[in-house]
Amino acid sequence: MIGEQKICFSGVQPSGNLTIGNYLGAIRNFATFSEAYKCFYCVVDEHAITVRQNPADLRRRTYETLALYMACGLDPEKNTLYVQSHVPAHAELAWILNCYTMFGELSRMTQFKDKSARHADNVNAGLFTYPALMAADILLYQTDVVPVGIDQKQHVELCRNIAERFNQIFPDTFTVPEPIIPQSGKKIMSLADPTKKMSKSDENPNAIVYILDDRDTIIRKFRRAVTDSETVVRFADGKDGINNLMTIYACFTGKTMEEIEREFAGHGYGDFKLAVGEVCADALAPVQARYRELLADKADLEAQMKRGAEEAAYYARKTLSKVQRKLGFVQLR
Ligand code: TYM
Repeated sequence: MIGEQKICFSGVQPSGNLTIGNYLGAIRNFATFSEAYKCFYCVVDEHAITVRQNPADLRRRTYETLALYMACGLDPEKNTLYVQSHVPAHAELAWILNCYTMFGELSRMTQFKDKSARHADNVNAGLFTYPALMAADILLYQTDVVPVGIDQKQHVELCRNIAERFNQIFPDTFTVPEPIIPQSGKKIMSLADPTKKMSKSDENPNAIVYILDDRDTIIRKFRRAVTDSETVVRFADGKDGINNLMTIYACFTGKTMEEIEREFAGHGYGDFKLAVGEVCADALAPVQARYRELLADKADLEAQMKRGAEEAAYYARKTLSKVQRKLGFVQLR
């Protein structure tokens, strides 16, 4: 708690162009917490270097991710928006939590298994201990809720285990957080292979709709989306492609699956795909326009980063000092 307010924390890696999966599963929902919670939204650049990044791209994407946060409705006056590497307490607490995280727990993380298979030439220790850094992000702010897509649920559960383990040895150190996973949009699938999550690191650009894709590109990508050999728009087992498109349509229009089935009764997949592309493009257009304005003013983005980092560091320091004191580290005044 900060004053009377509960705390919300989430983060996005600046590791690639953000997708409508990131938008619908996470970023779009962030602003809904701003009134009731004290919110910290972080651009997690330290997480991004667990796979090799081109430095110029990483720097550019860090600005872009912050601008997108703001373009998606996060007011920096109401939310603490900042960059992870600007607050050293994240890395400091991560080291400590590494010593309270078990090898076996980290070995079971599906993201580690996936990423180490995809980057077999660079299975570094950071990739393995990534969830301890993520736990540090969350626990530093005594977070109550963590809005994420379903792929991050396992990491938040590990964070809870780490917090509970630490609290058992050193009572009342950390708030144990809850993941908040949206009903709809928690797992947007690839348009090219709808059995796989839509991921910003996918090599096939037709698998992904980026938040910043222009209208024609969005419509073209949806038009090419893999579906099935039926022609009926209905939500059913075995219709992964159509189920995914219906989910995306539902997220952008607020309609239920039944309403969508009725709306497209008697229409082929072509009409439906065009409609999905149009609602997606319409919803993203104002975000894109605002994003372009924000990105044009780098000095302002830097001022926001600085202010956010100072604010975050204040709260992070409090938790870190408490942890260090409990552990028996000598504290100088
Ligand atoms: P990242 O950068 O991969 O993704 C950012 C957010 O987007 C969600 N997401 C999706 N949701 C629905 N469908 C998809 N296809 C999809 N793809 C991504 C993710 O679930 C996430 O919420 N480890 C985190 C970043 C992180 C973090 C944290 C999150 C670091 N520290 C502390 C919360 C709290 C990650 O890699 O997210």
